[in-house]
Amino acid sequence: MEKMLHSAPAHGRLPECFIFPADKLPQAKATSATVSLPIVDLSLGRDEVRRAILEAGKEIGFFQVVNHGVSLEAMQDMETVCQEFFRLPAEDKAGLYSEDTGRATRIYSSTMFDTGAEKYWRDCLRLACSFPAVGDSAAAWPDKPRRLREVVERFTVQTRGLGMEILRLLCEGLGLRPDYLEGDISGGDVVLHVNHYPPCPDPNATLGLPPHCDRNLLTLLLPSMVPGLEVAYRGDWIRVEPVPGAFVVNFGCQLEVVTNGILKSIEHRVMTNLGVARTTVATFIMPTTDCLIGPAAEFLSDDNPPCYRTLTFADFKRIYSVVKLGSSLNLTTNLKNVQKEL
Ligand code: OGA
Ligand code: NI
Repeated sequence: MEKMLHSAPAHGRLPECFIFPADKLPQAKATSATVSLPIVDLSLGRDEVRRAILEAGKEIGFFQVVNHGVSLEAMQDMETVCQEFFRLPAEDKAGLYSEDTGRATRIYSSTMFDTGAEKYWRDCLRLACSFPAVGDSAAAWPDKPRRLREVVERFTVQTRGLGMEILRLLCEGLGLRPDYLEGDISGGDVVLHVNHYPPCPDPNATLGLPPHCDRNLLTLLLPSMVPGLEVAYRGDWIRVEPVPGAFVVNFGCQLEVVTNGILKSIEHRVMTNLGVARTTVATFIMPTTDCLIGPAAEFLSDDNPPCYRTLTFADFKRIYSVVKLGSSLNLTTNLKNVQKEL
């Protein structure tokens, strides 16, 4: 528990283990101006929404959604209760601390990506929610703050509903059966990462999260009004400007695989800041562990051979975790390299 960043009273100096070598420093690549990601208004006509999602998805791989049906109250309650969680006295959280990646509910610091020596300026509360009986998972969640379980349940049910609607819209837009992405491919536990980035004494020397792609199917991020997320775009990083009430949506690796690369899972990273803590909630829609995932036949032809191997989600994660993050997390290249070794 003493490894958790947020439980220290204040950080006067950045400890050595967080300082990156010069070539990995955040500003090693120039960062362009802050941009607002494409905003898709889900209350518009279905044809228009379908087109907007596909366009935004193909252009940047990230977009924001507004008028999305998740209530403002559910979003605000979630943000507040998560901030309150990280402010609880250390003794209320100590039992949740674990470095065991097999433990579904836990708190830990930095990241479980194997990134080498450096640590990342981020604490995380991980929660797993099984569907449809979400209530069954709640017993494993923290019981403080008092409202946490009820708030997490309401938020997760609504946010997953939104995720499934976006998946249906994508299927329709891509010419797949509308329910193609239902069933096992989106039927694993919904995993929440409540990311907490405390004020950092030297934001130029470290990162909150390294450049990475999400390994799941679809991610919906409650991004906080404090900026920090950056998305890889044409060899540069763009800073995501938060939009009130919006979710940031991005495609996980499994959507890239299923669409044989039509949709791309884009690298992103998190910057820290000197002044204020930032708390975000990433909702990951995941396949079941045994689900076999490969390019859909609809996207394959003699001219379009499969770019990815068909693997179970468990094998994918195992392989992906041995691929060192490093210069690039380009999924196609990395998977091809790893697959040569299989
Ligand atoms: C993640 C992630 C972004 C953020 O949890 O995978 O990319 O801004 N989070 O916290
Ligand atoms: Ni991510």
